[in-house]
Amino acid sequence: MPNKSHFNAGHIALNTMNRDDIKHKSHVDFEVPESTQQALIIGDCLNVLNRLPDNSVQLILIDPPYNLDISTWDTYSNYIEWASEWLDEAYRVLSPNGSCVIFGGTQFQDVKSGDLIEIIHYTRHKTKFRWVNTVVWYYKNGMSAHRYFANRHEEAIWLTKTDKYYFDLDSVRVKYDEETDECIEDELGNFISKIVCDNGKTYSYNSYQLLWFVAYYPQQDVLLCEGGHTSDVSFNLTTGAEREDVGNPRYYVYSSSEKYLLNGYDDGQECSAYFIQEKIGGQYQKIIFLERLFEDEIDFRFCWILDAFWENDTILNIITTKYPGEKHEKLYYRIVLK
Ligand SMILES: C[S@@+](CC[C@H](N)C(=O)[O-])C[C@H]1O[C@@H](n2cnc3c(N)ncnc32)[C@H](O)[C@@H]1O
Repeated sequence: MPNKSHFNAGHIALNTMNRDDIKHKSHVDFEVPESTQQALIIGDCLNVLNRLPDNSVQLILIDPPYNLDISTWDTYSNYIEWASEWLDEAYRVLSPNGSCVIFGGTQFQDVKSGDLIEIIHYTRHKTKFRWVNTVVWYYKNGMSAHRYFANRHEEAIWLTKTDKYYFDLDSVRVKYDEETDECIEDELGNFISKIVCDNGKTYSYNSYQLLWFVAYYPQQDVLLCEGGHTSDVSFNLTTGAEREDVGNPRYYVYSSSEKYLLNGYDDGQECSAYFIQEKIGGQYQKIIFLERLFEDEIDFRFCWILDAFWENDTILNIITTKYPGEKHEKLYYRIVLK
């Protein structure tokens, strides 16, 4: 199954920010240097690191010894005491937007031996390194084993100093080839690749962003799609509006004169998001996001409306609950629009 998490709320927000050219708070404006200089220095890493200034190194990549006694350089009476010296130095010299990657295995044998587990424990508890990811290096030809499953991978941990680290995902990710695209299509049915709205607004999707048809609502001219993890992705085919601006017509509850609309959508992770829209210039625009409205009011995530009705054009009554189901407490609220 391809990863369809592009349609969870966080990813939708990131994609919307990208589209509107709004930078995420962790965005780094990184100036790619015109030239780089390389030097091959052979020596004890500590002696080399000691001579480097603070915050000066963009990438530190380490494939250290693991105290497996395979050589003189691989034998330490206290592995982590030794490793802590270069780990501390690595932290000092790492640039605030740089990365430190440490290869290793998890072949812990006894307290004397060292491995990635020891390093993870040390960096987590004794340094200010931030853990970004564990990367798995998969290989086919590892050492064979008879008393346990032979390792066919190695782990690498990716550490940074801050959340403003440089990362260019597009330079490393690989798009599915045509054959894989076709397999996905066969396996999952036809997904939507292009939507053209009446006003010419066009949306295109590829195998990174799969969309399936769910329903068409002729009265509102809304196309409702499934974006994965039970998340709604909807389009108003008249105006070209999408997603949060359109919501899911199944949630629509209009006020008496239809000036206001309680709207919502499945935002994945078995949760619904609700918002109130006001009709401005013939189009509904979001004015209140209910999760935010209830933030200080309830001690759980506002995720379910069991029932809702408008008393008149400005008073909305809702029943919410922490978990839907017979025995769970129902909470009644009146929202008065001013
Ligand atoms: C696990 S091996 C890395 C193998 C290497 N990545 C490769 O693919 O050939 C660990 C390496 O660390 C080197 N090494 C051991 N102690 C060192 C130290 N104090 N400073 C620098 N290098 C050291 C060893 O010479 C050995 O080559």
